[in-house]
Amino acid sequence: MITTPESVEDEDIPLDSTLRPQSFSEYVGQEKIKRNLGIFIEAAKRRKENVDHVLLYGPAGLGKTTLAHIIAKEMGVNIRITSGPAIERVGDLGSILTNLEEGDVLFIDEIHRLNKTIEEVLYPAMEDYKLDIIIGKGPSARTIQLDLPRFTLIGATTRLGALSNPLRNRFGSTHRLEFYFPDEMKRIITRSSRILGVPIEQGGAEHIAAASRSTPRVANRLLKRVRDFTEIHGRERIDKDAAREALDLFEVDEIGLEPTDRAILTAIAKKFKGGPAGIQAIAAVTGEEIETIEDVYEPYLIQLGFLIRTPRGRIMTPEGFAHIGLAVPENHQDKLV
Ligand SMILES: Nc1ncnc2c1ncn2[C@@H]1O[C@H](COP(=O)(O)OP(=O)(O)OP(=O)(O)O)[C@@H](O)[C@H]1O
Ligand SMILES: [Mg+2]
Repeated sequence: MITTPESVEDEDIPLDSTLRPQSFSEYVGQEKIKRNLGIFIEAAKRRKENVDHVLLYGPAGLGKTTLAHIIAKEMGVNIRITSGPAIERVGDLGSILTNLEEGDVLFIDEIHRLNKTIEEVLYPAMEDYKLDIIIGKGPSARTIQLDLPRFTLIGATTRLGALSNPLRNRFGSTHRLEFYFPDEMKRIITRSSRILGVPIEQGGAEHIAAASRSTPRVANRLLKRVRDFTEIHGRERIDKDAAREALDLFEVDEIGLEPTDRAILTAIAKKFKGGPAGIQAIAAVTGEEIETIEDVYEPYLIQLGFLIRTPRGRIMTPEGFAHIGLAVPENHQDKLV
């Protein structure tokens, strides 16, 4: 779907590389993280040391990968990119680590998907910059230890809870990316339209910003679609009407909800009388995968205050009922306390 914050290969990758901010000054928002990382980087540079390992977490499309690139750039070092699922064998990690140069950044995306054996090889590498390798098999096998260059591991994950404690504890700092504020979204859209060379009016930028799920990747994707729509209709610029008409056509409402979001809300409201509804049950009723609901739809619905997550399941809020035009059932408030 058009507002999925996860990356779609042929659509987002060319877009990502042109629109991706290259420095802290181009990177909009996340002020606290930028300030903290800025200090770590400055201090490390002065001491001529590498930056301590950094863990970035938060919903898809908020700018974790972008930040990792910026950190490497500001440090003036190379970045080596891989991901949890891509490292299948201990040897894969070994060859990545031994090929790093002093001070390099190793970026591991989806780090919660690293398998356990590989994690265990990573611990001494992170802590002491050592790599243990086993040579030979059976009784004659022996372990030798290699010294690694001092590198900075940057881990990114959408699921902090899925990370093992020992791994989490080995990061020097952990940063949670937040959803963006409306004026930040507007700045991102204005910046992107400048780069893409499409004139946009304030009203157009605001309309797209409001529908972008507080997520830069969604903003860039919507902007591109609205631009195509505008061009096809022979208009010169994106104004509020063009943005509204295009988004209507894509069935994205004024706060960025799509048919699936509304189906989820309607299911909880009607089938489960506002909840609590378990994630399996919601998945079964809507025909969506549990993971997709948890990673793609739910974070924004929670951010909007339409749903809350409780140990008993998801519960709809009065705002959620209002958005899909349904009355709040009697005694529903009691469930929310
Ligand atoms: N702070 C920002 N300012 C401007 N543009 C941004 C910002 N953060 C992200 N973007 C834009 O959004 C796109 C997606 O960001 P990025 O790939 O870094 O997200 P992510 O958090 O790594 O997502 P995922 O969890 O899917 O890997 C980038 O290509 C960039 O153009
Ligand atoms: Mg990423």
